[in-house]
Amino acid sequence: MTPFIKIPTKDGSWTLKNPHFNECYHSSEGAITETLYKHVYPAFKSVNQPNITILDICFGLGFNTFLSILNRPKNSNLKIYSPELDEKLVKSLINFEYPKEFDSIKDIINEISKKGYYKDSSVEVEVAFEDARTYITTLPQVDIVYQDAFSPKVNTSLWTIEYFRDIDNLNPQIITTYSVATPIRYALYTLGYTLYTHEYEHIRKGTIASKHSLNFEQVDFEQKLQRVTNPFYYTD
Ligand SMILES: C[S@@+](CC[C@H](N)C(=O)[O-])C[C@H]1O[C@@H](n2cnc3c(N)ncnc32)[C@H](O)[C@@H]1O
Repeated sequence: MTPFIKIPTKDGSWTLKNPHFNECYHSSEGAITETLYKHVYPAFKSVNQPNITILDICFGLGFNTFLSILNRPKNSNLKIYSPELDEKLVKSLINFEYPKEFDSIKDIINEISKKGYYKDSSVEVEVAFEDARTYITTLPQVDIVYQDAFSPKVNTSLWTIEYFRDIDNLNPQIITTYSVATPIRYALYTLGYTLYTHEYEHIRKGTIASKHSLNFEQVDFEQKLQRVTNPFYYTD
């Protein structure tokens, strides 16, 4: 198999390009920037409670998990579930060139890379080396879902309405994703989610979905639906 290609991103952090999916793990905007602004900041702005559970779809290089640990609300306990098919990739992360911001959690990174598991008094991370489609059906309720699979074009099974129905069964307070594709928003809307987008100027919009009222710019999906003649046409 072609090796992973190491790619620099605009904020100075490195990401990889996956030769099988032919996609990068992060956008060119930056691995840290994308993770923080599209996932971690919106999630913790909305969920600030003593015990927080996160489903991180999927682990990849672990930026969502690691930046959640580093930016979690003060005094909160985190439990993170993250499926990942590529065990070899996770094992290799011990040698990945993470940004200096991750230096303080180097021990956590090393342990997850070696064992796929980490636990201390306030953080527990379980990386499950199995298919996310089946793994999500085994989980209890979660508060936050980071929907960060490769794109719907190349990783379709993690974007279908049936998949989102299983996610919805976990009763999340918030789902964050980089995708703004109409079919994805339509699936979430159909399941009763209100759609929002983040307010940050310097990064491309993503989608925030919730059944709660959140303090973000709401997407007027009713109006958008009227403009779209074929809702199954991918817009990104
Ligand atoms: C875009 S990357 C995730 C990026 C990650 N959040 C990060 O911060 O690095 C998508 C990941 O999904 C994994 N993957 C693809 N299909 C999967 C599946 N059905 N179940 C579990 N993992 C899967 C890939 O191996 C890849 O590591």
